[in-house]
Amino acid sequence: MFLLTPVLVALVSILMVWIFKNSDGGTERRKGEARAQAEACPWVDEDLKDCTDVHQVEEDANGWQESEEDVEHIPFSHTRYPEREMVRRSQEYYELLSKRRSVRFISNEQVPMEVIDNVIKAAGTAPSGAHTEPWTFVVVKDPDTKHQIREIIEEEEEINYLKRMGPRWVTDLRKFRTNWIKEYLDTAPVLILVFKQVHGFAANGKKKIHYYNEISVSIACGILLAALQNAGLVTVTTTPLNCGSRLRVLLGRPANEKLLMLLPVGYPSEDATVPDLTRKPLDQIMLFYFLKTS
Ligand SMILES: Cc1cc2nc3c(=O)[nH]c(=O)nc-3n(C[C@H](O)[C@H](O)[C@H](O)COP(=O)(O)O)c2cc1C
Repeated sequence: MFLLTPVLVALVSILMVWIFKNSDGGTERRKGEARAQAEACPWVDEDLKDCTDVHQVEEDANGWQESEEDVEHIPFSHTRYPEREMVRRSQEYYELLSKRRSVRFISNEQVPMEVIDNVIKAAGTAPSGAHTEPWTFVVVKDPDTKHQIREIIEEEEEINYLKRMGPRWVTDLRKFRTNWIKEYLDTAPVLILVFKQVHGFAANGKKKIHYYNEISVSIACGILLAALQNAGLVTVTTTPLNCGSRLRVLLGRPANEKLLMLLPVGYPSEDATVPDLTRKPLDQIMLFYFLKTS
């Protein structure tokens, strides 16, 4: 019995240390996982860390606002086309989008601002997690601001190309003939900076969860690209790495907004070239699933 007591005390102490380490270890483990992910995926912008993961909401439940509003449900209005018309429309839409290219040589000719309004309105029709519409499209036309954006991006991109991206990524980009010099940031008449709102704010100041905010904003960006193509303008999808927080501060956007994409928009310059790329055919991107009957 006397011999057993120290053994029991030792066991209880080990158990208590284990419980203590694990209760704190959750947060530490998550931080470690985030660090490891950043090292494994250098293309993820430092500023793009979400504040909406379930753990944070759970840990800080009082700071978050639940949605209590109710909405009326109304009849859905649908335009149905005859099948031949459907085929024609879908074929024409595909042909329109198949001509879209990422254009990195943009002329300084001005574009009608009504078109910019319309393409952003089109992007704003995107579906979003719980209809939170977690996007902000910042339109920059002022030449000085565009130049400041260019300076920030070129400064960071030089470090990206020389240090952060690593040889494999730089080699993969060689065929696009890109580097840290981004002339289009000065020449394009319009820059659209797309921010994802990692959370919103309710009227009482509490935070609102923006579910699936990055997927929602990415869908909006896809619609924006299609709308620009439909309007006859060009752009290049850019994701300037590790520029997010500096550009956010420059444009006076709040900390809950993270830069997801920057689109320089305009007409192609007369001598614009694009890499001669091919796209995967349908049989490589689509397959039919057949249920096995035997
Ligand atoms: C998420 C994403 C990020 C991209 N980032 C850049 C970028 O930072 N700079 C750039 O010049 N092109 C960028 N691109 C454009 C791709 O290089 C381009 O889409 C690809 O080469 C296919 O060419 P296409 O758009 O003409 O079909 C990006 C595209 C995507 C979808």
